[in-house]
Amino acid sequence: MAESVFEIRRLKKEDLAKYHAFSDAEVWNVGIDVYEKMFEISPNGFFCAENSETHEIVRFCGAVDIGDNRAIVVSFITKPLLRGRGIGTRVIKKVLEQFQNYEIIVNSAVGREKMYERLGMKKFLYQTNQLICRPKMSKNNEKRKFSRTDLLLEIDDVFEFDQKICKSERKNILKWFFKTSEKGYVAKNEKGEINGYALVRKTPLGISLSPFYAQTETSLRVILENVLFDFPTCDVQICLPIENKFTLKILEEYFHIKISSCCVSKDAPENLALSLTNTWLGSKEDFEFEKSSVVSILDFHFAVC
Ligand SMILES: CC(C)(COP(=O)(O)OP(=O)(O)OC[C@H]1O[C@@H](n2cnc3c(N)ncnc32)[C@H](O)[C@@H]1OP(=O)(O)O)[C@@H](O)C(=O)NCCC(=O)NCCS
Repeated sequence: MAESVFEIRRLKKEDLAKYHAFSDAEVWNVGIDVYEKMFEISPNGFFCAENSETHEIVRFCGAVDIGDNRAIVVSFITKPLLRGRGIGTRVIKKVLEQFQNYEIIVNSAVGREKMYERLGMKKFLYQTNQLICRPKMSKNNEKRKFSRTDLLLEIDDVFEFDQKICKSERKNILKWFFKTSEKGYVAKNEKGEINGYALVRKTPLGISLSPFYAQTETSLRVILENVLFDFPTCDVQICLPIENKFTLKILEEYFHIKISSCCVSKDAPENLALSLTNTWLGSKEDFEFEKSSVVSILDFHFAVC
């Protein structure tokens, strides 16, 4: 098929379902609500390639304005049979054109770093494991006692704590995360000060903890145990800086986790527990990123810590 039949155009709201279906086929585990939100934030930041004869959309890419003159490139994807024909590059270039003079950040899957470098995102920022892990604990067979955390009933309660973790102002997006989450948990120290919190979102593969922060081992354990008690059969998605080996060790007590650099594939083990390694790249300066204390980051499309 001649590539000239493909027209690069802005995405429309009604294209989001198809975009999301592409994302699901890659097992990216992002809910449609997240796509809707990103599009609402940056309606001019999304482009696609459409076959002008059949009107089939075959490639997508977008970027979301996250404030402070920064944008995050999200979900760059081409229908599998049509990859490698140069059209994806045209689509992402259109996106980047839209965000000229912005600092661009991208979360690159393993093996794609060079492609993003060629597009100008040369700075290595940090690496994370996206864990999709299956709990070992189950509500029925786990008799051991654990402390119940407080439920997070007002998102305003964590704003002050969140500001310590994330230098960007992100109250609005946190409010949205809270509103669209299933449940929220907050952990406190003996003085009653918040030292961790998590929001539980439903995702295509189970639940995602985003955001999820714990500053101490106790707060990490208490939040995890409460989440696992309330959502015992769900696969849990957590995002963890690769350097944070200590937290990974604790997570391994609660979850089956296989660390591998492979993408989610058909040969994934039966006892599904996957880690997708990925690299954050940027076009300009470095971020200060606390790799050891951050347990998990706000849903990656909105996270710059
Ligand atoms: C990454 C992707 C969106 C590129 O789209 P595309 O339409 O193939 O883009 P292009 O043809 O312009 O090629 C761009 C780059 O993609 C890579 N690529 C090309 N053909 C590919 C193929 N068949 N399979 C995988 N990657 C390929 C190459 O690195 C290429 O770089 P080059 O220009 O130096 O050759 C597409 O390969 C894809 O959907 N991959 C799966 C989803 C994914 O990994 N997205 C990025 C997540 S960070």
